[in-house]
Amino acid sequence: MNAPIVPCPKSFKATGGEVEIAAGSEIGFAGGSGARAAAGLFAEYLQEAGFSPAPQVSEGTARLTLVQTGDPKPDAEGFLPEAYEIEVSAASGIVAKAESAAGLARAVQTLRQLSAVREGGKLALPECRIEDAPAFRWRGLMLDVSRHFFSADDVCRFIELLAQHRMNVFHWHLTDDQGWRVEIKRYPKLAEVGSVRERTISGHHCTWPHVWDDTPHCGFYTQSDIRRVVEFAARRHVAIVPEIDMPGHMEAAIAAYPELGTGVFADVKVRDRWGISQNVLSLDDKCVEFCKGVWEELFDLFPGRFFHIGGDEAPTKAWEESADCQRLMALRGLDEPRKMQSWFTSEMQKFFAAHGRRLIGWDEILEGGVEPSAAVMHWRSHHQNLDIAAAAKAGHKIVRAPTSHTYLDYYQAEPVSEEPLAIGGLLTLPGVWQFDPLAGIPQEAQGAVMGGQAQLWTEYIATRDHLDYMAYPRACAIAESLWCGGAAARKFAEFRVRLAAHLPRLAAQGVKYCRRGV
Ligand code: ACM
Repeated sequence: MNAPIVPCPKSFKATGGEVEIAAGSEIGFAGGSGARAAAGLFAEYLQEAGFSPAPQVSEGTARLTLVQTGDPKPDAEGFLPEAYEIEVSAASGIVAKAESAAGLARAVQTLRQLSAVREGGKLALPECRIEDAPAFRWRGLMLDVSRHFFSADDVCRFIELLAQHRMNVFHWHLTDDQGWRVEIKRYPKLAEVGSVRERTISGHHCTWPHVWDDTPHCGFYTQSDIRRVVEFAARRHVAIVPEIDMPGHMEAAIAAYPELGTGVFADVKVRDRWGISQNVLSLDDKCVEFCKGVWEELFDLFPGRFFHIGGDEAPTKAWEESADCQRLMALRGLDEPRKMQSWFTSEMQKFFAAHGRRLIGWDEILEGGVEPSAAVMHWRSHHQNLDIAAAAKAGHKIVRAPTSHTYLDYYQAEPVSEEPLAIGGLLTLPGVWQFDPLAGIPQEAQGAVMGGQAQLWTEYIATRDHLDYMAYPRACAIAESLWCGGAAARKFAEFRVRLAAHLPRLAAQGVKYCRRGV
């Protein structure tokens, strides 16, 4: 029998029977503090689904019990083991066990998918035994909140949905040329000035002449918003990886504090069009201090191990044309402009390490050289000369995020003329589902691959409904690749059967997923 679950568990054995739990039954927990927290979260989910009255949570064994059997320490990258087991039987009721709190959090999501609330508020689950563990440690979704801002509530909902698919990383792209979205108390103009875009290009940015929407686009998260989102994610054992993209993609910050720029380009403002800006940070000493000041506040806000420095698409033209930057290069012994970025990334890496944090960046950080302790997010699957296998062999930890399989801002169904406007490309559900994080990595270096993630860049995604539409069901397929691994052994037809059982769960939560090509 198919497990009616997405992503598919490693082992699912069902008898064909069913176990009912009476309305009002309590949820028991035993073991570590993670068990109490997981039981509390499950109780909330059940209540939302109509299991009433709301289940009480109490220590000890009940018809529904969650047990944490150990208290393992996180590994060198900050991940806990996530294996779990579930037994649903008439004799013992429902028992979920995991060594770690993270494993129990995944078990809760599986239980949630298995649960049906019946008339009278009773709970029914298929009689079964599940043994499960993920293939990859890093299973993520990235959300760009710069191009279009999404409220803290929308972000929590985004995290809730990814957690339901047993994903565990939320990569929060917080800043870009088109808007700075996080309050930094030391530099208040970042939010005051950098979060306000006066106008926005309408239609596709490659269409001429440009047409403008003159409605200002604004929004940023206060530090208290950020704390609320961090707490929401922590309850679900989802790590947040905040990204401040630097030294390129910084025009909004330079608009707020012009002294951060090189002065080569006049009329710096929060960018009102898409595409790559030439306006990069000057990287002089004051600018580097400024960046450290931003990161220090983020280190206080985010408890996770990895912090994302961006590093993609930083043109060197401004460093070439600025006399001050040329002097700086000579002073630092840098013989070509590209090395400005690698010098800066290394400085940041030392700074992160001194704060006990790990740096991750888009794969451009490899250009000009960077220490192997920097983790690399591999996105340019189209780049001929980028040797990600060599980076893995050199000791970099790798997250696969290739345009070829994980860019959910691409069109998803043909004819694309019938789809809402997107950035371009075509990435169908079966295409996403074929994502293999180990592709092209020789066996001896595969241990370097932590996992992968899908990206939701939002140049053309302005609303929550549209975000749902672009994310789902393709994010289900990403979750499946990352949880199950073994791309060659998986069968799309089998996935499709489980997906058909799963999509009504999303619909019941108001997720406006794409129905074309499912
Ligand atoms: C990227 O898509 N610029 C990482």
